[in-house]
Amino acid sequence: MPPAITQRLYINIDHVATIRQARRTDEPDPVEAALLCEAAGADGITAHLREDRRHIQDHDVDRLARAVKTVLNLEMACTHEMLAIAERTRPFQVTLVPERREEVTTEGGLDVTRDPALMRECVQRLTAAGIRTSFFIDPDARMVEASKALGAHAIELHTGSYCHAPGNPERLTALQHSAALGTALGLHVHAGHGLTVRNVGPVAAIPEIEELNIGHSIVSRSVFVGIEAAVREMHVAMRAARASL
Ligand code: PXP
Repeated sequence: MPPAITQRLYINIDHVATIRQARRTDEPDPVEAALLCEAAGADGITAHLREDRRHIQDHDVDRLARAVKTVLNLEMACTHEMLAIAERTRPFQVTLVPERREEVTTEGGLDVTRDPALMRECVQRLTAAGIRTSFFIDPDARMVEASKALGAHAIELHTGSYCHAPGNPERLTALQHSAALGTALGLHVHAGHGLTVRNVGPVAAIPEIEELNIGHSIVSRSVFVGIEAAVREMHVAMRAARASL
């Protein structure tokens, strides 16, 4: 096995905006949260501009693109509206996610085989704009292989089903196998969704996983200890798991 790559922590600040949107006011500001996360050691900032604009707004993306000092990972659906926003704001990376208006959060990974022409167009336009493209997929060999065939630079493995049953060895094994396959195919491998300080260890310990995207548990914890401490706690948990490799 090759030596484990250093693992990055990207903080998803959507739910700072969720609190703000509950009152349609100007606080708390997700950009201020992003800067505090970076000060606490976050390696990148993730934000999801949903089609229904339930949390992050267009002006947040514009401000994040200007203010973030690390890198911005913009999560979005593969639509022409979102593509135009990405081309204008030029984040470092776009993670393409499935979106259904009625869902509470992103449920399940992207079926990258459903509209290959659109997926290809997304990758081509983002690449032409100098943006890396990651596909948020379930840990399924067919999706990993299709992502490679469609030209993705990276895949983000959906950790939701592992997080619902962290003691289930098959769910962890699916992540391990997909991560190994992704790396073997030359893809960068990321992971995220539902990760907390308590369940992150086994995922952080998968050697091929280069980047974790974590949001809800960090924002939840920050209510009690502040967002900087919440980021540091997560980093400690990740490093402890990596140290055991
Ligand atoms: N990665 C992707 C692609 C997501 O859609 C989300 C949720 O917006 C996350 C990571 C973060 O998930 P959580 O908020 O559960 O940590």
